[in-house]
Amino acid sequence: MTENSTSKVVRGLKGVAAAETRISYVDFNGFLYYLGYNIDDLVGRVTYAEVAYLLVHKRLPNRQELERFKSELVSSMRLPDQIVDSIARSPIDSHPMDILRTEVSHLGLYDPDGEVFSKETNIRRATRLIAQVPVIVATIFRTRQNQPVLEPKDEFNLAQNFLYMFTGRMPEAAESNVLHRYMTLHADHGFNASTFAARVTASTNSDMYSAITSAIGTLKGPLHGGASEKVMDMLDDINLEQEIEEYIMGLLDDQKKIMGFGHRIYRAQDPRTKHLRGMVEDLCHRERTMRLFKKCFQIENIVYSRKKIYPNVDFYAAVTMDALGVPKEYFTPFFASSRISGWVAHVIEQYEDAVLLRPESKYVGGFNIPFVPMENR
Ligand code: SDX
Repeated sequence: MTENSTSKVVRGLKGVAAAETRISYVDFNGFLYYLGYNIDDLVGRVTYAEVAYLLVHKRLPNRQELERFKSELVSSMRLPDQIVDSIARSPIDSHPMDILRTEVSHLGLYDPDGEVFSKETNIRRATRLIAQVPVIVATIFRTRQNQPVLEPKDEFNLAQNFLYMFTGRMPEAAESNVLHRYMTLHADHGFNASTFAARVTASTNSDMYSAITSAIGTLKGPLHGGASEKVMDMLDDINLEQEIEEYIMGLLDDQKKIMGFGHRIYRAQDPRTKHLRGMVEDLCHRERTMRLFKKCFQIENIVYSRKKIYPNVDFYAAVTMDALGVPKEYFTPFFASSRISGWVAHVIEQYEDAVLLRPESKYVGGFNIPFVPMENR
């Protein structure tokens, strides 16, 4: 008896296209497109809400549509009391990503549209999640700081409200500008692991909350969105600039991965890096940011000279977050607060594609092993 599948194993699904999508294209030559728009044409010219609208509705909004979408988002930036109470009761040492994963799943119990599964209710659900995921992140942080949970301000857009509800202070224009660019750059990225996890869940016709819970659990991993927190751990660990070469070479000599470097698809620079590096440079009037930027720049040159690999989105995103005053354990929750718009767009596209994502496997175990009853084992 032998395993009879004719399928070939492709480890890590490298180079395998699992489905077609119109939402984004990651070009290994170092280009990224959202619905056909080059990311370089969007960053700094659109708000994050415009990008979220583009991903969910497949086109950029006109002014009236954007205003309506913005007020729908801001009016959804409130959580059921049960969610706020549950966050307050979560174990004090639990990671914010674990609480976020838990509370998005919990949110599904209070969906005003219940179990109705239609294109219209899914778009409404998607819009609510785009608004509520950042609010869960802000609520976790404020609760942990023993600060009151804040209500959104109608005059603010989603990103401004996110910063305000997280920090408790009125966001400066420069900070809002940085967050809009950061969230635009993090919104979607083809079939990355967390998006694919969401699509696999949605492909069984399971609900959107289950799909997003799968995505959050997947993004948390340090090989994926969890890398940005690890980048900051590394930068904090290297205390003297002259140590950098020795520190990085030591990791590489031990066959360790340098967090924030390399990518499954890009063979050239990650197109998001130049924007994030530029945002960090603009924030270098802050002494700590200048110090971190100098370390990053040195690390970038050492890693490239040794491994010919480039920084990915997580490398300078870490310093961008730090410059906004976000503690490192909230870096990945901020990543999720933007990627939620890509995840829900892919979940809706998967519902429309209506095919079960179920690969084969190559069985390498034994056959017909003789059964031994318990008394003889
Ligand atoms: C994100 O997929 C996406 O689009 C993700 C993302 C998104 O927007 O959704 O872009 C966001 O997750 C970015 C990636 C964040 N993760 C990290 O920064 C963790 C460190 N990076 C690596 O673990 C790695 O680069 C991956 C996981 C990102 C990609 O891994 P692959 O494609 O499986 O590549 P590999 O591990 O097989 O490495 C190929 C070669 C190896 O060298 P050789 O053994 O062949 O000589 O490149 C080397 C690796 O050793 N390499 C690294 C490295 N990344 C690859 N060497 C040192 N440090 C690294 N970071």
